[in-house]
Amino acid sequence: VPDARVFVTRRLPGDALQGLVASCTLDIWPHPAPPDEKALREHAAPADGLLCLLTDRIDAALMDASPRLRVISNLAVGVDNIDLRAAADRGIPVGHTPDVLTDATADLTMALILAAARRLPEGIAAVSEGRWGAWSPDWLLGLELHSARLGIVGLGGIGQAVAARARAFGMEVVHSSRNGGVPLPELLHTADVVSLHCPLSAETHHLIDAGALAAMKAGAILVNTARGAIVEQSALAHALRSGQLAAAALDVTDPEPLPRDDPLLQAPNLIVLPHLGSATRRTRERMAELAAENVRAGLAGEPLPHQVQMSVQAGIRPAPEGDQCPT
Ligand code: DGY
Repeated sequence: VPDARVFVTRRLPGDALQGLVASCTLDIWPHPAPPDEKALREHAAPADGLLCLLTDRIDAALMDASPRLRVISNLAVGVDNIDLRAAADRGIPVGHTPDVLTDATADLTMALILAAARRLPEGIAAVSEGRWGAWSPDWLLGLELHSARLGIVGLGGIGQAVAARARAFGMEVVHSSRNGGVPLPELLHTADVVSLHCPLSAETHHLIDAGALAAMKAGAILVNTARGAIVEQSALAHALRSGQLAAAALDVTDPEPLPRDDPLLQAPNLIVLPHLGSATRRTRERMAELAAENVRAGLAGEPLPHQVQMSVQAGIRPAPEGDQCPT
């Protein structure tokens, strides 16, 4: 498609875009900050393809302002930034980057579980602030992972990869997902650590609200590497302050970035990372490759190799987050 134009909303690691240069004209957003709504609209308007990020809101109005658009390729497995139904209504396939980020995200989840369970931030702060006294039998005692129960909410590829790692640590793993496992209330009530791996959708928005947090085992740990809005953050802050939860470790928040003065950041025993789940060089390069493959196929009118199913797009099925098996 020699005269096709593709708007790429950020520079990407690796050389995946090189493969597209021969087949289309690339308009690559050159700044580290995402295009704002107006710039996104302007650059997408003449585009046949869009290679976008989770920071770009791709809604019906944007699609209508981009009449030539015939492929949307998201550099993420999660696709909650895209109005999937609007894309389906317009016959625009949506691609994403499943599987290649599964291990990186599962590793980071374990890092967060360990950091929260063994109170790493408190220990690091004590050393750097000169509060390291003599070795003491009862200082900074944490949760031992062996024999503790991990509750995984959402058993796609990432949830399964976390389960495998947790079992290697001797954890007892239970899960709750749309395809089975234990009911969510039972998981919340019995798990020492709850880790979220479900997609963000209307169904999972604020799934972990005040009621769910109150239902958790007293002194449990909450870990979220999925999407920030699955957790109601004001309720989480309350649960940390009251001691209902021993700790929470979040790689995702709502919004992102979380403003420095957000009240959540005042809560005790809270770890917040700036959305680093897939942040390894190899994974990000693979994500860029998959996203470029999706663009190439979409421009050629072929099925996308990593396409969000049209049934998902049309809202008949929920969106995937790290799902490896077709659902
Ligand atoms: C995703 O892919 O959905 C992550 O949040 C970013 O890698």
